Amino acid sequence: MVTEIFNPILKDRLTQMRRKDTPSNFFRQAVEDIATFMIYEVAKNFKVKEIEIETPITKCKAQILDEDFVIVTILRAGLGMVSGALKVLPDAAVGFIGLVRDETTHKPIEYYKKLPPNISSKKVIVVDPMLATGGSSSAALQMLKNDGAKDIIFICIISAPEGIKKISEDHPEIPIYTAAIDDHLNENAYIVPGLGDAGDRIFDTL
Ligand code: PRP
Ligand code: URA
Repeated sequence: MVTEIFNPILKDRLTQMRRKDTPSNFFRQAVEDIATFMIYEVAKNFKVKEIEIETPITKCKAQILDEDFVIVTILRAGLGMVSGALKVLPDAAVGFIGLVRDETTHKPIEYYKKLPPNISSKKVIVVDPMLATGGSSSAALQMLKNDGAKDIIFICIISAPEGIKKISEDHPEIPIYTAAIDDHLNENAYIVPGLGDAGDRIFDTL
């Protein structure tokens, strides 16, 4: 199930990301901001519980988040979203999955994995700016399931219909949240219109 998040500020930052002349520092800031806005929007569905607290005036009932969170980033480009996600969920643990697409086959190659313990009892939020063929995110989601994760959501900034189809087929129970659904993939499996290579634009390695 895919949900496109509509928010004017989100769309404005996304336009900043898409422009080819946007330099890395502004691109990076937009990625961080969008991660913050998206998690804030998605959090409308998070569970809360009621507790009793004491203000300087009196005792009262109040609400706190009723879940433990893990942010899992798909390296490299997903790293740009971590600081923005942690602004909304500062107590979250952070996990890393290193995947890179082979330039000819476009299939993901795993090169790193470091996840927090006990992810089976936590809400796992996977972040990656780009969902293109869906190969990388599908592999990451499978790695998390293999490690016992049961409650997973996937947040990507730009998605292609091909990637949405793949995740929906491979992991039908995992909700996808995106800021934009683009038109198609080109012959190099880049998203059209997209924004180019997210990792290169974040880290200025073009
Ligand atoms: C990008 C992006 C995704 C992947 C999406 O990473 O961050 O992880 O491509 O493409 P897919 O849906 O077709 O798998 P890339 O492999 O370019 O690595 P990088 O982040 O290190 O640049
Ligand atoms: N990875 C990117 O960074 N951009 C795309 O358009 C596709 C995959």
